[in-house]
Formats: sequence, structure tokens, C-alpha cells
Amino acid sequence: MCDNGMPLKGKHIIVGISGGIAAYKAPLIVRLLVKAGAEVVCAVTNHALEFVTRVTLETVSQHEIYSDLFARNNAHSTEHIALKEWGDALVLAPATANIIGKLANGIGDDALSTLLLSFRKPMFVCPAMNTQMLECPSVANNIDTLRSMGVTIIESTSGELACGTTGNGRMEEPEVIVSKVVEQLTKYCDFTGKQILVTAGPTYEKIDSVRFIGNFSTGKMGFALAEELAERGADVILVAGPTHLTTEHPRVKRIDVMSAQEMYDAATANFIKCDAAILSAAVADFRPEHAEDHKIKKQNDSDGMTLNLVQNPDILATLGKMKSEKQLLVGFALETDNELENAKKKLSKKNLDFIVLNSLHDAGAGFGHDTNKVTIIDRNGTIEAGTLKSKQAVAKDIADKLLATMDKR
Ligand code: CTP
Repeated sequence: MCDNGMPLKGKHIIVGISGGIAAYKAPLIVRLLVKAGAEVVCAVTNHALEFVTRVTLETVSQHEIYSDLFARNNAHSTEHIALKEWGDALVLAPATANIIGKLANGIGDDALSTLLLSFRKPMFVCPAMNTQMLECPSVANNIDTLRSMGVTIIESTSGELACGTTGNGRMEEPEVIVSKVVEQLTKYCDFTGKQILVTAGPTYEKIDSVRFIGNFSTGKMGFALAEELAERGADVILVAGPTHLTTEHPRVKRIDVMSAQEMYDAATANFIKCDAAILSAAVADFRPEHAEDHKIKKQNDSDGMTLNLVQNPDILATLGKMKSEKQLLVGFALETDNELENAKKKLSKKNLDFIVLNSLHDAGAGFGHDTNKVTIIDRNGTIEAGTLKSKQAVAKDIADKLLATMDKR
């Protein structure tokens, strides 16, 4: 997988080409990716085909290009959906202001832009345009939006531009683009050989045969973590509470559970064989003392009802006690008051290596959102406050922190 001669062996890479003069360099990017062992398919706009021919791209990639959303005989017959499953990474080079604007603002009006909107794996965007366009505040904002979506921007450089002026806006050279892609994608092997336990989602605590106590967690953060770690080579055991989310990664072994007790049983049984565990589930702290097997009926029109609750086991604290010298343990803290102080208390009380603090005060962060804003606090007292990012980008930060902590062992 991380072979130095052919570092991209086994990888499927989509090269997206939009209509700028730098498109003439795209065949060289394709060539270099193929040389590095990747299988490449080009997805192009109609304007791109004004600058580089179909024949050239199909010859260097050895694959039909993808250019027409409505083509009947396209090899990637289910169009952007099939291609987005096939691709392990996407390199958009050159990226014009137009295609950047579409991706940043959710516009899909042709083959390439719809593919970009549906692609959720590593994406590299190589802007190429005239200096004034690059400096236009709306373009700069769009590029920032892509960064916050977790896209890697391979910055343009300064030099002579096609319009005759000199300035920033030249697409980075193909060799540099490909070396950055290789660097980042092979970094994605940095968890190879590691086994990691992740908990995700809510738990449901049964009241009777039709009712439960639950919470608003959707599991998005935990699933993003499982996918990030698996993508980087880890074997992941994902213990998931009730959620509609799916994961197709072959290195994610999913164990579905319902209640905190079931999550506890699955987590404690599997932790022993793991190098690390990240517990992101929103576990119910309490469950009804007795769960009825029949539907509880109203006794009287005006009577209320009292539910007696008992405490659930604390999975994280239990793993903190089980933890060996070699294992790492990461928890989440969801706080509404005295956030840092409470998170630090949980870090030491539950014997964690670091804790990821979510605040419900931050707009766009927490349950149900596709974005999150977290602060990571470790045992040495280091506090890293993040910005609002996609849950995928937050998952990457947490995985990076886990790896850095493992490396220090
Ligand atoms: N957690 C757990 N088992 C529980 C409760 C929580 O494993 N029974 C884990 C969560 O997955 C999370 C961390 O503990 O990683 C903190 O959860 P949180 O709800 O913030 O805190 P609690 O420990 O439950 O404390 P409190 O609700 O009092 O803030």
C-alpha cells in the first residue's frame, strides 16, 4: 500500500479539469499519477475540452473521460454516483474561479460540478486564474469555504500569466501537485496495523415495548472518525447506537447496539485487542429501572407518571480503568457551563490521554450538524482550540492528535 516506487499503487484518482489555460498541463498530472501507480479517470468540463483534447486525456489515463452528465454510453454509467464511489481521491487541476464557486456554493450544473458536490473523500484543488480574479474577495471567500470543508488547496504561484501580466495565479507545477497528493495520500497509511475502537451515536433506553429515552445525537462525528481512521489504514471496530448512517469502508467492522448496557458490553469486550479507543457516543447516563415488555397504559385521565431511573455504567471510565500502558483513550465532553474546567476534570477522572470538548454554545457545532467546533485538551495541559469545520475535517484533526500521542509513546 505505501510502496515507495509506486506510492499510489491500488489508488483510484479522479483528475477534474476545468476550463483554464493551465488545462494544457493536466495530461502531465495524469501521466505522473499513473507513473506513481494510480489508476486515473479524467472528469472534465466542456470548456476544458477547448484547451486539452479528449484523445490526449484518454491516451494518458487509458480510460474514457467523464464529461457528459446525460451520456448514454458512458463507461461510468451511473455517472457521478458510480465515479464518486470508484475514486479514492480527486485532484481538481486547474480549478477556475467558476468551478471553485460552484463547489463552495453547492451548484451542480454539469458532469464535473455534480461529481465534486457528491465527492466525500480527499480532494485537492489547484486554483489557476488571473491575479485580479484570485484576489477578488468572493473568490477568496470561496477558497476559504473549501478549506473549511476539508479540501486541500494547492496554492497557485507567482509568475507570468496567460493574459500577459505577472502575478499570483499560475497553477502549481504538475510535479509539485503530484508530490503533494502522494505525500498526503500516503500519509493516509499512517494507521496501518493499528486497531481502534470508536463508539458513536446515541443510546436508547427502553421504557416499554414502544417507548425509549434517547438523545439528539446522530452519530455523524463518530462515523466520520471511523471512516478517517479506516481510510488511513486502521482496522476500526465501530460500536454504533441507533442511527441511520451507513459506512461501507471495508476496514470498519460495525457492531450495532441499542442501549448503554449493550454498548458497554461491546466496548469492554473489544477494547482489550485495540491500540486505542475514541468514545464519541452520547451515552444515556440513566435508564428506567424496569423496562416493561408491554405498552404502559394511562391509568387515569389526570394522573401523571413517575419513571424511576438508575445509572448506566460509564463506558469511558471503565475503559480508563482497564487501559494498559500501551493503550490510548480519548473521550468527548459535551458541556454547557464551565466548559474547560469540566472537560479537564473528565480527562483526569476517566484516565484519558486527551479529551475533545464540544460546546453547545457554538452555532453549527454539536448534534445533527455536518460541522463541529472542538477544543482538544491533553494530559500535559495543552489546549488546542479549533475553528468551525466539517466533521470530516475535525475527525482528521483528532486522528492527527491520536497519532502524535502514539508517536510520543
Ligand atoms: N460516556 C460513556 N459512558 C457513559 C457516559 C458517558 O462512555 N455512561 C462517555 C462519552 O462517550 C464521552 C464522555 O464519556 O466520551 C463524556 O460524556 P458526557 O456526556 O460529556 O459526560 P458524562 O461523563 O456523562 O458526565 P455529565 O453528563 O455529568 O457531564
